[in-house]
Amino acid sequence: MLKSLVYALSDNRTITGFLSRRGMSSGFARRFVAGETLEDAVRCVRELNGKGIPCSLNFLGEHVKDRRMAAAVVDSYLAALDGIQEQKLDSNLSVKPSQLGLDIDFDFCLANLQTVMERAARYGLFVRIDMEGSEYTERTLELHRKIRERFPLVGTVIQSMLRRSAGDIRDLNAMKSRVRLVKGAYKEPPAVAFQKKSEVDEWFQRLSEMLLRDGVFPALATQDPAMIDHAVRFADRNRIPKESYEFQMILGVRRDLQESLKKEGYGVRVYVPFGKQWLPYFMRRLAERPANILFVLRNLIAER
Ligand code: FDA
Repeated sequence: MLKSLVYALSDNRTITGFLSRRGMSSGFARRFVAGETLEDAVRCVRELNGKGIPCSLNFLGEHVKDRRMAAAVVDSYLAALDGIQEQKLDSNLSVKPSQLGLDIDFDFCLANLQTVMERAARYGLFVRIDMEGSEYTERTLELHRKIRERFPLVGTVIQSMLRRSAGDIRDLNAMKSRVRLVKGAYKEPPAVAFQKKSEVDEWFQRLSEMLLRDGVFPALATQDPAMIDHAVRFADRNRIPKESYEFQMILGVRRDLQESLKKEGYGVRVYVPFGKQWLPYFMRRLAERPANILFVLRNLIAER
C-alpha cells in the first residue's frame, strides 16, 4: 500500500522536482547518497574503510536512452575505478545495465560493460552487475554470462521476490559465479513475482541456504535482522566459515547492525551510491520503509 503510494509519487513531477531541488541542500538525500561528485564518494568510502568496512561504489543513473550519455556513464565508471585504485580504497564497483545502454541495444551495452571490465581487470577489481526490474532479468543474466567468458571478476544479483530465482541461483552456482542476494526493489506483477512479504522473506531464506551451501563467496544483501539471523544459524549448523560469505547493506541504513556484525567477525560491505541522478534510487529507499518518509519530512520542517 505504502509502496504503491511512493511508486505513484515517483511519477509526479511536482513532487520529484521538489525533492531533487531540496534533497542535497536540506541534507535528507545525503543519508542514502554519498553526494553528487566522485570526490564526495571517495570521502565517504575512505571514512567507511577507516571503520574497517569495505564498500561497493555505484554511480547513480538508469534507463539511459542516448548513446552519448551511455558513453559519459562509461567515463564516470572508469574515473571511479581510477579513484579506487589511486586512493587505495577498499571498494569494488556496482553497475546498472540500463545505465550502460541496455535499453538502446544489447551489444552496445555489452561493449560498454567490456570497457569498464577491462579497466577493472587491470586493477584486479571486482564488478557487480546490479539487477533491475524483471523486464531486464534475462538480458542481465546473458550480459553476465558473456562478460564472464573473458572476465572472472564479475558477479550479478538475484532477487528473492522473483519466482524464477531458484533456477537462476542453481545456474550461477554451477558457473561458480559470485551472487548478491536481495529481496528486490522494483514493483513487479504477480505473474513473475511473489506479492506477499512473507513469501519474499521465505524465499530469501531458502535461496540464502542454496548460496551458502553451494555458492562462491555469496553476498547476502539485507537490512532485515530475521534474514541475517537465519543465514548465520544455517552457516553455523553447517560449519560454513564466516570468511566464505559476506553481508551487504546500503549506505545510511542500520549502521548499528553493521557495527555489531563486524564485531562478531562477519564481513559487512556497504553499497555507496553517488551522482546527480539520485532521485529514483532515493524513492526506492522511501518505498522500503515508512520511517524514511518521516525522516524526509522532519528534515524539511527543521529547515524552515
Ligand atoms: P525489508 O525491506 O523487507 O525490511 C525488513 C526489515 O529490515 C525492516 O523491518 C527493518 O527492520 C529493516 N530495514 C529495511 N530497510 C531499512 C531501512 N531503510 N532503514 C532501517 N531499517 C531497515 N535491489 C534490487 O532489486 N537490485 C539490486 O541490485 C539491489 N542491490 C542492493 C544492494 C545492497 C547492498 C542492498 C542492501 C540492497 C540492494 N537492493 C537491490 C535492495 C533490496 O532489494 C531491498 O529493496 C532492500 O535491501 C530492502 O530490503 P531488506 O532486505 O533490507 O528488508
